[in-house]
Amino acid sequence: MSRSAHPAGPRHADVLPEGHYSAPPADLNALDPKVWARTVGRDGDGVLNVGGIPVTRLAEEFGTPAYVLDEADFRARARSWRDAFGADADVFYAGKAFLSRAVVRWLDEEGLNLDVCSGTELATALSAGMPPERIAFHGNNKSEAEIRRAVEAGVGRIVLDSFQEIVRVAHIAESLGKRQPVQIRITVGVEAHTHEFIATAHEDQKFGIPLAGGQAAEAVRRALRLDGLELIGIHSHIGSQIFDMSGFEVAAHRVVGLLREIRDEHGVELPEIDLGGGLGIAYTSDDDPREPHEIAKALTEIVTRECEAARLRTPRISVEPGRAIVGPTAFTLYEVGTVKPLEGLRTYVSVDGGMSDNIRTALYDAEYTVALVSRTSDAAPMLVRVVGKHCESGDIVVKDAFLPADLAPGDLIAVPATGAYCRSMASNYNHALRPPVVAVADGAARVIVRRETEEDLLRLDVG
Ligand SMILES: Cc1ncc(COP(=O)(O)O)c(C=O)c1O
Repeated sequence: MSRSAHPAGPRHADVLPEGHYSAPPADLNALDPKVWARTVGRDGDGVLNVGGIPVTRLAEEFGTPAYVLDEADFRARARSWRDAFGADADVFYAGKAFLSRAVVRWLDEEGLNLDVCSGTELATALSAGMPPERIAFHGNNKSEAEIRRAVEAGVGRIVLDSFQEIVRVAHIAESLGKRQPVQIRITVGVEAHTHEFIATAHEDQKFGIPLAGGQAAEAVRRALRLDGLELIGIHSHIGSQIFDMSGFEVAAHRVVGLLREIRDEHGVELPEIDLGGGLGIAYTSDDDPREPHEIAKALTEIVTRECEAARLRTPRISVEPGRAIVGPTAFTLYEVGTVKPLEGLRTYVSVDGGMSDNIRTALYDAEYTVALVSRTSDAAPMLVRVVGKHCESGDIVVKDAFLPADLAPGDLIAVPATGAYCRSMASNYNHALRPPVVAVADGAARVIVRRETEEDLLRLDVG
């Protein structure tokens, strides 16, 4: 999304520097419900509350930085995905976005399935009691041990990602006297991100088997020949943070085209099709994500139409949203450490976390907003860059945003929409201790992933 420099003023520059910001919001204290978890609001003192708890209390009790996750919002979003797709389809929450045992239990209780992509994600899911038949196992380089563990556990499907893996999974399943349900992940030549999609040569990536050149058809041929495999469907995932459904339309057209080829060649109608995840959320007020029911309706219509045209029975559809469920439900709570105005440029606000708890800004040029949450302020807007405490000038959490000009060390600020791919991609850079995830609901807060301690890190250092 490109936004241009705005002529309205922060306190340090007459002409604003180049950046990715729009006008300062009319009211800096307002909280746009699009980007904040659903139970967020301000109390009479101006302090941000979530799940009925003021953030000042959360900071006191659990410290900062901390990820604060609104459990009611998580459950409501999970339910709305399940309800939107109904009983004839499956929703697999993509665990890579954020996975913990509490999350697994919520998903189980709300009737969702789970997509994992490593042996340890699988172990987390199993240890929290997710029924194995509701787990899908992904990954472009699953080890033999991981495959064996998944087959032994009885996962509902393994998504095959290469010719070698087709043989590997078949052999392991056979050696265990099992027939493993599998899907084949294909690349359909579509890549979609944010508001755009490109339908050209995006087979040039590590995931999946290209449809182009008949490679996917050959993979199907081989899978159908192997006794250890029960081929149940075709899988396609086209990208991330997608708002525009046209990429899915092209993908569904191509996947159904392959199903037709399979029917014509083998006389087999595969019963399932998985269209992956990637549905976008609002990181800033400029983003307009679609509701699950709109997405479900659009995807179901596309697949049904394509199947009717190909004279195929409509397969059972599944989807794998991660970000769209957990992303909006959490924010990161930071304490301001230093406020450094750079004359003629912007003000650098340093917080007690950074790229170790949110790598997305550095990695993807992601955009976020930020708000002062321990109080309100009537001070003028000040153009800020929120940065971390790491030894890297790219250690930026929020590139461009406005905060009140009276912001001071000790204030609490929060960055919304950090539920997905922040804790799960967190690192120990500079030996940072990864922050806790605190779940709040109905006036109670509990740690679902604890903060790392110095002892945790030193215990790993056995030298
Ligand atoms: C195969 C697959 N499914 C689902 C997802 C989840 O994507 P998102 O969290 O954007 O919905 C991903 C993300 O990379 C993926 O690779």
